[in-house]
Amino acid sequence: MPAELVCFEPSCRARFAVTEVIYNCPRCGGLLETDYPEWKLDPEELKAAWRARRTCNLPLDQSGVWRYRETIPFLENLDSVVSLREGNTPLLAAPQAAEYGGLDRLVFKHQGFNPTGSFKDNGMTCGVAQARRLGMRRVACVSTGNTSASMAAYAGAGGLEALIFIPHGNISYGKLAQALEYGARTFQVEANFDQILALVRVLAERLGIYLLNSINPFRIEGQKTIMAEMLDQRDWSVPDWIVLPGGNLGNTSAFGKALRELKQWGFIQRLPRLAVIQAEGAAPFFDLFQSPRRDRLNAVAHPETLATAIKIGDPVSWPKALREVSESQGVVEKVSEQEIADAKAVIGKSGIGCEPASAATLAGIRKLTAAGVMRRDADVVAVLTGNLLKDPDYIYRYHTGQLEAPGGGLIQPAYGNRPVIVPNDPEKIAALL
Ligand code: F0G
Repeated sequence: MPAELVCFEPSCRARFAVTEVIYNCPRCGGLLETDYPEWKLDPEELKAAWRARRTCNLPLDQSGVWRYRETIPFLENLDSVVSLREGNTPLLAAPQAAEYGGLDRLVFKHQGFNPTGSFKDNGMTCGVAQARRLGMRRVACVSTGNTSASMAAYAGAGGLEALIFIPHGNISYGKLAQALEYGARTFQVEANFDQILALVRVLAERLGIYLLNSINPFRIEGQKTIMAEMLDQRDWSVPDWIVLPGGNLGNTSAFGKALRELKQWGFIQRLPRLAVIQAEGAAPFFDLFQSPRRDRLNAVAHPETLATAIKIGDPVSWPKALREVSESQGVVEKVSEQEIADAKAVIGKSGIGCEPASAATLAGIRKLTAAGVMRRDADVVAVLTGNLLKDPDYIYRYHTGQLEAPGGGLIQPAYGNRPVIVPNDPEKIAALL
């Protein structure tokens, strides 16, 4: 079998069977990643095969994850796979957003088009396949909302019991509603994301429940295919920049690993630069990247942002993300609540729309072009991580001038679009028009 788990710590690099139920290195506590030593691929043959699979009706060929299965060969066979036809998300050109961001052109890879409305589905199909392969009956996660929605759906489809732990009062109703509807047992814990992750890890160990947070290396494998699909859609032309929001930093780790491997296997000749954008009130990775010593992340004890998806103060995957951003000659930026809100409205006006965390990308691009870090003529792909309808409450408040920033103070709706209340009277409405 080509797959192994390897400790991410350069000083350890211990190896384990891919069927061991471990989330950290048992020797040193480091993060684990899936490794495929000796795995060789024929890029030209596979590029053609992947293109051909798009027109095939087999469920796994229709999946935008399993179509690229040669890049994630951690299963002996595909019997345990549950697919909801994840991936297959579009690249959307957005001229208005480009102009706002100070770019000549900008393309969004919109992961909100996934079955549960976020990029988590790319990873979850792999995490649940591994759970079923291991014979696990129960799966658990802590979540700011999207991981739980996704895990609930895939567990439901795969006949597993889903246990979800979420910060009470701190996730959007759209996401909570999904978990309930997909039938997950849902616990709202009086603690923040970082505290609940520690709690769930203890419970998972004690009760033999399979943990499906992004610390799970198989989820990262699935999220890698976002990069493979994006490059396939661009006929393998490598962009200059990939921009994405950073929370727990699983996606940053996944994108970096995907791009490194695709280069190593000969699919691309160079790496795009990664630009990770955090919310100002939850920006420990930004701080780490600024500091001259990058060996320890100082957690933010009380992270605050209305972009609840990325309201995380102690991101577990920071060592991986640090390596990936550094290797790609990338950058980390942070943006304010006002900047996120306005960028989000601009993405909405472009007919595209996204949830708040996703809009951090465009807000970050605007800052990076203004600072001269990103050139106006750069070829940029920004990843919109979640669907517009995930958080309608935020949208209504923004457009009606009621959106309050965490520290108090109203967000100014520079792109506000208030609904107008009118009488049932054609004359009066016509006069307004
Ligand atoms: N964007 C959205 C919409 C998310 O839901 C998340 C993470 C991120 C960005 C950040 O991604 O953690 O890989 O850096 N949401 C997780 C969750 C934490 O529980 O749904 P990351």
